[in-house]
Amino acid sequence: MKVEELIETAKALMADDKGLLAMDESNPTCNKRFAKLGIPQTEEARRAYRELIVTTPHLGESISGAILYDETIRQRKKDGASFVTALTDAGIIPGIKVDIGANDLAAFPGEKVTEGLDGLRQRLAEYKEMGACFAKWRAVIVIGDGIPSRGCIDANAHALARYAGLCQEAGMVPIVEPEVLMDGDHTLERCREVTEEVLRMVFDQLKAQRILLEGMLLKPNMVLPGLTCPHQESVEEVADATVNCFLRAVPAAVPGIAFLSGGQSAELASARLNAMNVRFKSRMPWALAFSFSRAIQQPALEIWQGKDANVAEAQQALSYRAKCNRAARRGEYDATMEKPSA
Ligand code: 13P
Repeated sequence: MKVEELIETAKALMADDKGLLAMDESNPTCNKRFAKLGIPQTEEARRAYRELIVTTPHLGESISGAILYDETIRQRKKDGASFVTALTDAGIIPGIKVDIGANDLAAFPGEKVTEGLDGLRQRLAEYKEMGACFAKWRAVIVIGDGIPSRGCIDANAHALARYAGLCQEAGMVPIVEPEVLMDGDHTLERCREVTEEVLRMVFDQLKAQRILLEGMLLKPNMVLPGLTCPHQESVEEVADATVNCFLRAVPAAVPGIAFLSGGQSAELASARLNAMNVRFKSRMPWALAFSFSRAIQQPALEIWQGKDANVAEAQQALSYRAKCNRAARRGEYDATMEKPSA
């Protein structure tokens, strides 16, 4: 294991109050988002959109790392330069999603297990050769009647730990992403209970698989009420529930926690991250950052609509959201930063 390389990369990803941009939507997910806006669902449209992202001026001032997808890491800008080169030139560390998606877990109706361990050692070697310095694997946990089950959490935690071990062997920082979904009418308290249980099981498995905690990052959900729960807690209540949950379950040796946005609005995701940093900064052993996809990209995608003429404006919106989230890491985000045009 290349301990120093792992520790250095993890530190660099959390440095200067920056965060990560997830641009690793699989083709089906990317196509779904395009379809909603009437954008053609073609390889060229996906390439053009990702070129818009990697060429956004000043993105590297707020973004430390970008997570790519298998198709995207092989793509190039119109001028022939690879996206990996474009990111590196912008001071952004390239990473790669390496799971191959969540499938139904046999014998556990309504629950999923993330797959992709077969051949992973070889795929990691190829991605590393292409310039990726870190990787991501997302497990999906659903809250519902009688779920999540112990069997589902165990299976996903084990896969996350096996993935993390292979990444560290390859000298790539694993981003460990156990996502408890927001879908449903469950309460914030139920989400807290499930998130804590999942995190405890994930860290048990990481320990069992001899993962170097200093050389990984955690990418969790915030502790939130379900999207259709009638009672929606305040930004401050969400911040308190989330950080208190992590203080119990995430070892201090982990250098950083970078949240997924999970379908929250861009503004709420920034406001909640900001409140956590304002209220807990001096008490947290880890950096508290972001690794958002929708909460950074969605406003830009809506402006772009697949049209060249909208690229500059979409890039401004993207860069603006990244900047808001960097401010949130410092506890300096303010709702007044939200301009109608952004
Ligand atoms: P969202 O921020 O849109 O939840 O995406 C983050 C991510 O990488 C999901 O795996």
